[in-house]
Amino acid sequence: MIATVSRKAHFNAAHRLFRADWDFEKNQEVFGKCNNPNFHGHNYELIVHVTGPISKETGFVIDMKILKDLIKLEIEEAFDHKNLNLDVPEFKDLNPTAENISVVIFNKLRPKIESNLELKITLFETPRNSVTYSGQ
Ligand code: NI
Repeated sequence: MIATVSRKAHFNAAHRLFRADWDFEKNQEVFGKCNNPNFHGHNYELIVHVTGPISKETGFVIDMKILKDLIKLEIEEAFDHKNLNLDVPEFKDLNPTAENISVVIFNKLRPKIESNLELKITLFETPRNSVTYSGQ
């Protein structure tokens, strides 16, 4: 029996979307308000989905306490109340779009979760906009 378990998490962070090799007008055209030089914030909602066999021994796919602590340590402590562009090394040369944040989150969690379990993450940047990434 295969099941998917999901854990929700949350962080607040600031960012600016821009390319240093484009002029302000080009950045404004492509990124609009997200190119605000003084940054702007989002309340990010993260859902981490783990799919795998239900252990006959424990009845779990993964111990949710372990998953909760992993997300807290690897994601919330690294991103919450941070300026993604300035404070988080992964975004030094990577535009912190919801897509790229999703990839960074996935890459941080993937090595910490047993390889027989599938990982998929969904990141809501606003209540209406989300990205799903599963490592492809
Ligand atoms: Ni934004």
